[in-house]
Parts: sequence; C-alpha cells; structure tokens
Amino acid sequence: MIEHIKPDHPETTHLAADSLSPDQAARELAWLAKQLTAANTAYHRDDAPEISDADYDALKKRNLAIEAAFPDLKRPDSPSEQVGGAIAEGFGKVQHAVRMLSLGNAFDDDDVTDFDARVRKYLGLGDDAPLTYTAEPKIDGLSLSLRYESGVLVQAATRGDGSVGENVTANARTIDDIPERIVGAPDVLEVRGEVYMSHADFAALNERQNAEGAKPFANPRNAAAGSLRQLDARITKSRPLRFFAYAWGEISAPLAPNQSGAIARLSDLGFVTNELTATCDGPAAMIAHYQMIEERRALLGYDIDGVVYKVDDLELQRRLGFRSTTPRWAIAHKFPAELAWTTLEAIDIQVGRTGALSPVARLKPVTVGGVVVSNATLHNEDYIAGRGGDGAPIREGRDVRVGDWVQIYRAGDVIPKIKDVDLARRPNDAVPFAFPKLCPECGSDAIREEGDAVRRCTGGMICPAQAVEKMKHFVSRAAFDIEGLGAKQVEQFYSDGWIKTPADIFTLRDRYGIGIQQLKNREGWGEKSAQNLFDAIDDKRKVPLNRVIFSLGIRHVGESAAATLANHYISWTAFEAAMTHAVVGEGDIWDDLIGIDGVGAVMASSVITAMQQEAERASIDALVAQLDVQDAAAVATDSPVAGKTVVFTGTLEKMTRAEAKGRAEALGAKVSGSVSAKTDILVAGPGAGSKATKAEALGVQTMDEDAWLALIGEA
Ligand code: IVH
Repeated sequence: MIEHIKPDHPETTHLAADSLSPDQAARELAWLAKQLTAANTAYHRDDAPEISDADYDALKKRNLAIEAAFPDLKRPDSPSEQVGGAIAEGFGKVQHAVRMLSLGNAFDDDDVTDFDARVRKYLGLGDDAPLTYTAEPKIDGLSLSLRYESGVLVQAATRGDGSVGENVTANARTIDDIPERIVGAPDVLEVRGEVYMSHADFAALNERQNAEGAKPFANPRNAAAGSLRQLDARITKSRPLRFFAYAWGEISAPLAPNQSGAIARLSDLGFVTNELTATCDGPAAMIAHYQMIEERRALLGYDIDGVVYKVDDLELQRRLGFRSTTPRWAIAHKFPAELAWTTLEAIDIQVGRTGALSPVARLKPVTVGGVVVSNATLHNEDYIAGRGGDGAPIREGRDVRVGDWVQIYRAGDVIPKIKDVDLARRPNDAVPFAFPKLCPECGSDAIREEGDAVRRCTGGMICPAQAVEKMKHFVSRAAFDIEGLGAKQVEQFYSDGWIKTPADIFTLRDRYGIGIQQLKNREGWGEKSAQNLFDAIDDKRKVPLNRVIFSLGIRHVGESAAATLANHYISWTAFEAAMTHAVVGEGDIWDDLIGIDGVGAVMASSVITAMQQEAERASIDALVAQLDVQDAAAVATDSPVAGKTVVFTGTLEKMTRAEAKGRAEALGAKVSGSVSAKTDILVAGPGAGSKATKAEALGVQTMDEDAWLALIGEA
C-alpha cells in the first residue's frame, strides 16, 4: 500500500482508478506527480532515496492506472513521461582534460592472480620477472578532480560521466583536507581522490538532521555526495567532508617515476593520502595486505569497499594503457557482498531485447547495505533449480520457490542476487517453479540452444516485448537519442501500431501525411510537440556509424564494441559488405574481424548472424535506407599511422602482440590479423612466414619492429 508515504495524500488512493470522479482523479494525479518528482530528485539528484523501490513502483502504477482511466486529465508534467532522474541543474559542466575512469573488479584471490597474469602477459614479462604493485583501501565516497594552476586551486569537478563532470569548485574550497595553495607542484596538476564522510561525522550529521526535522541520510556515501553537490556552498561548509588523494589527471611534469613515489609527493604537497597504502611484490603480498585491511575495516572510522591494486611503475602503466572505461594497470579487489534475508513473494518472467526470458524475484522489501531491495535477478532456469552454469549444484542443489525465505546479496553496485534459501522455513505448499516453455508475451516457443543457459523467445520482431525492447534500445541515449521519443512514447506508438520496426520511426511523418494532425489529437501531444518530434527525428537521420551499429541491439555488441567495429570498418558500406560475405569461423573476413582488438569469436559470430538473418536484415536495410550514415573518423588523425591498416607477424621483441595492437589502435591505425591488398604496413619480426611472403607479393610496405617504433615515435 502506498498510503503511508506522505501524510497529505488524497483520500482516494484506496479506490479503483476508474471509480474516481474527474475531480478526484485530477487531484490524485497532481499529488502523484509531486510525490514521484520528489522521489526521482531524491534518488537521482540528491543520492538520498526517500522511499523504497516497491513504494515507488506502486506510485508509478497508480499514476498509470488513473491516466488510463482519465486520458484527458494526463498532466503536461506527467511522471509517466519521465525517464530516469533529474540531473542536477545549476552546476556548470567541466570537460575533464584526462577522462576519469572506473576500475575493473576482482572478487576473489584467483581474480587477483589472474590480474597479475594478464599484466605480465600484456607486458611480455615472465612469471619470475620482478613486478611491484601498490595496494590501498578503496574509499567508498565519490571521486573529485582538483585542478591546480601555478599552485592555486582553480577548479574542482565531480566525475560525472567520466568525460564531463560538474563544477563544484566553491564547494570543494570548503573542505579542510583540500589545500587552496600548494608549493613546489608542477604548473598544471590535477589531483584526484575521494570525498567521503567519517562514521562519526555521519552519525552527528544525521542526529542534526533528525533534530531539525530533516531527512537523515541512508549511508555516509549518500551523505558525502548530497553534501558536496549542494548549490549553496555554505551548506557544504557546514558538512564535515574529507578528502583522500590517490591519483592525478592532467599534469605538466611527472610527479615521480612510480605510483608510490607520486603519492608520496602528493602527501608532501599537503594532501591527505591513505596510510594503509603499501607496495607489494606480487599477488601473495597483495592478498596479504587485503586481508590486513579487511581485518581493520571495522575500526577505520570510514567506509571502504575493497582494496585497489595498481602497477607501481608509471612507465609500465603507460604501456598497459586503458580498455574502454578501465585501466589495464589497476583493479579493485572488492570485499564480500552484504547479505540479508527476506521472503520471495513471486517470480516474474521478463522478455528482453534479445528474447531472453529473465526470471526476476519479487521480494518483500529489505534493506541490504543501506539500500532497500525489492527485486533480485534469478538469472535463468538452472539457477532457480539449483544448478550452476556448468551443471554442477549451487546452494548444494537447493532450488528456489515462491514463498521461500531467501538470502539476498549486493556486491558493489551490481543488481541484487539470491545467494541462499532456508529449507527449514519453506512453506509446506511451496512447489518447484515451472519455467515457461512458451514466451509469456507472445506465446512463441521459448527454446534453449545447446550450451546456452538462457531460454529465448523465438518470436523475433513479432514478439511485442522484444520489438518494444529493441526499439527502446534504438532510441536510447547512446543510440539514436531522439528528443521527445523515449521509452514511454515507443510503447505508446507501438501499441497503436504506428511503429513496428526502427525504420518506421523515420517514415512516420510521411506515412501520416497529416502526421501532425494525427498526433495532435493524441493526449499529451499538441501541434508544437508533434512538430518538434518530427523535426527531432529528421535531425537524427545524419548519424555516426558507431551509433548505427550500437542501435541495432545485436547481442554482445555494446557501445564500446560498436565503436571498435565502426573504427575498423569506417563506413556502413564496408561494414555491411564484410558482414554479408563473412563466414562464421573461417576465411579472410572472419580472420580480419576477430583480429580486431576487443572482438572475440562470440561477438563476431553474433554480428555476422544478425546481419545475415533474413528478417532482421530486411529491417536493418529498411532503416539504413532512411539514414545518412557518417563514416567513423580515424581515432588520431595527426599520427603517421592514422587510418593505416597494419599487420603484425613473427616475434615481437620489445612488446607483446596485445600491446603492439593497443598502441597502434590508439594512434588511429587499424590492426588486422591477415595480409591483403588493403594492408598498408606489415611489421615483421623474426620468424615471419607466409604473411611476409604474401605482403611481398602484394607490394605491401614491410618493416621490422625497430622501424615501426621509430615510425610511431617510440624508438
Ligand atoms: S584509482 C584510473 N584508487 O573507485 C583509475 N580509485 O571503481 C583511477 N576509488 O572512480 C581510480 N578509492 O572513485 C582509485 N584508492 C583508490 C580509490 C578509488 C576509491 C573510486 C574512484 C573510482 C572508483 C572506481
């Protein structure tokens, strides 16, 4: 029930939506708009959720029900039209000179040894070669970048999306741990670290909040985020925030040759650095340091959620470089997840974009690590039945049933999962869950392919759930991002039969010659908004290749894979031709495709299959016919190898194959696994065989490793 949320609720919330009078409906819609806007703001902007997920869902559902019963009363600010949360308005935007990245995660000791092995492999270091890492607590706060010019703090910015953050300079200046001036620093120095709140300060702040009748914060991280991102810096000043420095961004001169030296310099410059930072000579020492920190965790007086390991040598860090959003030279070893027990009230099946039937656990809401959880993933039917991916028992073979008493866990910010079930508390009438063999949305067969843990609906675009999810993906921010056409409108237009495939979006105006007239008569649309929508759609006809590839919603092709493919094929014509003629598992096109750094066999065959599947292809062709697809620009245009296709063969002596590829691609070259007429440069080390012969026959420029390094300025 939703009545307990706010005292001033209308008296009608217990009545069926269609039994309300128009007056009551209007009043309740106004109330709901207010509640939902406040909840959105609290959750997304202020990092301080005020109501549980379940209560939020109940409000949304009620709002939809009343809107359905009284379409004329739908408000211009209807919460059902809002996707996601309010962005904090009022802060200026800051473009980070060097992107603020996140970290990959390790969850157990094996992940740590794997990390070390990956680093060694990339660098071509043997198992016994010395390699030093730093290990330090991972502070559970929010990251901040401080820019000093000539020793003076000139700007402070939050991480934002990694590329653009919020300008919180005035707020940062109120934090005692952040010096205004520093002496002896490089001319330009961006110091990065974590803003956090200690347990004691958090408790005192919440006591104050309570005394003042203000809402207490859920946890120290929320309190720190909410306090830093205050438009009024005086409020930030009244909140006891702290700052640990652990990294840097743009810098005009190096601080030291290694990570530990650089951190020591930051400490000398007046920044607070974490005293539990150590250097370790390998995984055993790293894990020992992790265990030491874990033992002290409860006594530290502030929240940490793991230990971060970084390659100490900064030259090696540079060579290792980055994947799309995480460095290859660092990893976060997370502490085990937080746990809680609750009742499993229902198991729902959701049908996703790729037809996957995903079971979702509906839980009696429970707080896990400061967050109210009411849904958890159940992965797939084997998981429910008590079998893991390899068929071996999980939870000692115990299945999960509706009515069960289940243990929930959350690791970091991942979706909550069910870890265990208590058989002693299983109700007598609980029955094993019967996983549907038909798609609950369209009734098509739902099949499990050999070796696939997931059961998938075979309905393709005839399945309304798949079609709608594919189209929601299509209009999402990283894809076509059409203003005025969000998830909600897609659902509406789909159910009206206006759009069935993405191409239909672009023919909407034409098919409805009087489109505006048509749309205008819909609730929520006026002449202007209809006109704006058609204009916004037209605006997006000219679209970069990477967005088109991403928008297709092909399995295993996320945003960064789409960019990788676009950078390799450059034009839609080239991409389309290659995918049309490719054969999974063999041939030049296949070799070229899986030769791309970041493209594996699974992704490659998924792209080829999607592009060769008749119905899907027809829908893609229809779409592309509506578009003006822009070629991908080469990554770096000013490098001597930008846009060139390079093949490495034979033994490389100064770097590993992966590193050579990574460097070449960072300089805008395309790295391919096979020599063809399109190859510009063959870099041939000792032992080069057939590729060198072929290159010679084709007249491809061939050079050795040293010449290559000289060419790219790294000799
Ligand atoms: S290093 C290029 N060190 O964790 C990587 N990050 O999950 C730079 N964090 O966004 C980050 N403590 O907000 C680093 N000792 C530490 C950290 C730390 C907390 C946060 C940081 C980052 C996130 C990544």
